Amino acid sequence: MSGEEITAPRACVVGWPVEHSRSPLIHNFWLERYGIAGAYERAAVKAEDLEDFLRNLGSHGYVGCNVTVPHKERAFALLDRPDAAASRLKAANTLWLDDGGLAGTNTDGYGFLASLDEQVPDWDARSGPAVILGAGGAARAVAAALAGRWPGALRIVNRSRPRAVALARDLGLNAEIVDWSARAAALRGAGLLVNTTSLGMVSSPPLDIALGDLPKPASVCDIVYAPLETPLLAAARARGNAVADGLGMLLHQAVPGFARWFGRTPEVTAELRALIAGDIQHGRAPQGARGATGGAGT
Ligand code: ATR
Repeated sequence: MSGEEITAPRACVVGWPVEHSRSPLIHNFWLERYGIAGAYERAAVKAEDLEDFLRNLGSHGYVGCNVTVPHKERAFALLDRPDAAASRLKAANTLWLDDGGLAGTNTDGYGFLASLDEQVPDWDARSGPAVILGAGGAARAVAAALAGRWPGALRIVNRSRPRAVALARDLGLNAEIVDWSARAAALRGAGLLVNTTSLGMVSSPPLDIALGDLPKPASVCDIVYAPLETPLLAAARARGNAVADGLGMLLHQAVPGFARWFGRTPEVTAELRALIAGDIQHGRAPQGARGATGGAGT
């Protein structure tokens, strides 16, 4: 073993299962691109082993890790130093060792906003409510992020209404809760539509929503990234709405972790996008095919 191998920073993605994660592809692309002597690996860790694994992250040789399904809430509970984003969502996806303790954040909201900024630069200059479809973990990250940027009201539309009510309550959001059956009418006057449900993802049912009432200046974002262009995005694009896909969120949410572990803020380039898009098109492991928390991303 050379000295370099011993000191090169190592990080990993912790999940169960973890084969579906595209994080190694993203981080190893950046390590190679910037000539950094580091490593990013997969760590398949069962729920019952998570606490032991995270408490001994340093002994396993890691400077930090990503956390994916189904461990994000449990990982948050194990943090010594959660930041504001993780505390708000009660879920963590990016961890690092800090002075002997375990620190962590949640980068899903950051990734969502950075992706919109990249794909639709003036997305937050629209008027009207922002409509969020879904009320799971991904919706929480999106709603919390939008609350800080979107100038208008929030409308949350979910099949299970109590879950949407709980989301607004837990995040302290003054959002309008709309029944799933009224989803098409909820688009009236909207300036932004975001799908955070799993509908439209490969191996999931389609997202059935009529866009007729959605104003043409509204932007449409789908956090599903497999397929890359979901039927929702294709329909929105065809009628002239600006669109943002879920791949951007997946890529951008990885930036803060890489910067912290490996000491360089990486760029989300067209080359990286093409690499991951190619992997998605080859259809490997659709399981985590959305850009964010909960059943997705990382
Ligand atoms: P995550 O935490 O990753 O966001 P999740 O908690 O499984 O994942 O959330 C999935 C979202 O897709 C939820 O909003 C879910 O609606 P419910 O809260 O009513 O379950 C939504 N969803 C999944 N399948 C759906 C379907 N067939 N029709 C409508 N909404 C659906």
